[in-house]
Amino acid sequence: MIKTNILKIEYNQIIEELKKINSDTILFVADHQVWSIYGKDFNFEELTGKKVIFWKAADGEKAKNFNDFQNCLEFFLDKGIHRNAHMVAFGGGAVSDFAGFVAATILRGIDWSIIPTTLLSMVDASIGGKVAINAKVGKNLIGAFHMPTNIYISESFLKTLPDTEMKSGMGEVLKYCFLDFGIYDLAMKKSDRSELIRACAEYKQKLTLEDFKETGIRKTLNLGHSFGHALEFIYNIPHGDAISWGMVLVFKLFGNEKNIHDITALKEALEMTDKNPPWQNKEFPVEKIMTYLSKDKKISALNSLDLILVNDIGNAVVVNKTFEEIQNALELNKDELRKFSL
Ligand SMILES: NC(=O)c1ccc[n+]([C@@H]2O[C@H](COP(=O)([O-])OP(=O)(O)OC[C@H]3O[C@@H](n4cnc5c(N)ncnc54)[C@H](O)[C@@H]3O)[C@@H](O)[C@H]2O)c1
Ligand SMILES: [Zn+2]
Repeated sequence: MIKTNILKIEYNQIIEELKKINSDTILFVADHQVWSIYGKDFNFEELTGKKVIFWKAADGEKAKNFNDFQNCLEFFLDKGIHRNAHMVAFGGGAVSDFAGFVAATILRGIDWSIIPTTLLSMVDASIGGKVAINAKVGKNLIGAFHMPTNIYISESFLKTLPDTEMKSGMGEVLKYCFLDFGIYDLAMKKSDRSELIRACAEYKQKLTLEDFKETGIRKTLNLGHSFGHALEFIYNIPHGDAISWGMVLVFKLFGNEKNIHDITALKEALEMTDKNPPWQNKEFPVEKIMTYLSKDKKISALNSLDLILVNDIGNAVVVNKTFEEIQNALELNKDELRKFSL
């Protein structure tokens, strides 16, 4: 397995970095929206000696489907590319998931790199080599593990990122604070954003190298995600927001008092101001959550789920709970949850 180079660069260095790529052909896949903002600054003619073949992907999640996947593959194949071609994904996590899956499958796999443009992709999605498109029955079900060669992090892109996307990225940062004491400490000291991004990216990289196929320690990165995915689906809220409320839920049901205390303090330090969960003052959606969780059950034919719990900052564990245990815990806590806010 290759070890990805995570490079912090300035915006105006991007072309210089692309020049160093060890290939004469770049397959450049850009998010539609991101390209409309930044495309004018990319002069591929400066990449002397390299041929650039450009594909504009739909913006965000819309790119991650079979149709676009096939069209993109056929487009590049039609250009007569060779196995030494190098793909570059330019955009947020959706485009890197999409382009990475094309890179993993085209000609049985070519090298690729990422220029992440969202906070969420800088701290999470671009790292670790999981790539995928969506199936009708669920997200990310068709994919591969395919490590990128380089990740070029330039925070300048965050200047144009909508607030909702920025807030969503912070949800993943919050998750890392529970997994690693160093990151917790940076957050509580209100260190600058660059420091936090670097620490989160390096932490995910470390876990990925230890457990590439997610059979052990890498699973802890799923903290907040089982319930989070259900909340994202039920309330149609951004991924990272859903993850932060997914963490609250798993802590309330199976965690400890200190978890809730920590999440309150961390959200304050990270200036995440929303205190009210999406279910507040509504009927708490036990049935909907269970239906969503058992969709996974249908796929994996399992009777239980691995949930991530945090004994204390930096000490996360994987705990298996049956669907019955989860349903009982939700039923037992639903009235209290309805009134809950941080
Ligand atoms: N592979 C992994 O390990 C992993 C991990 C986490 C999430 N993901 C995936 O990542 C995706 C979410 O990624 P995301 O949160 O980065 O969002 P995204 O890629 O869906 O982008 C969100 C929106 O922001 C726009 N955008 C992106 N960068 C911008 C910029 N700099 N300025 C203005 N607009 C910009 C996009 O066009 C899009 O409309 C999901 O599909 C999720 O499944 C993958
Ligand atoms: Zn996530």
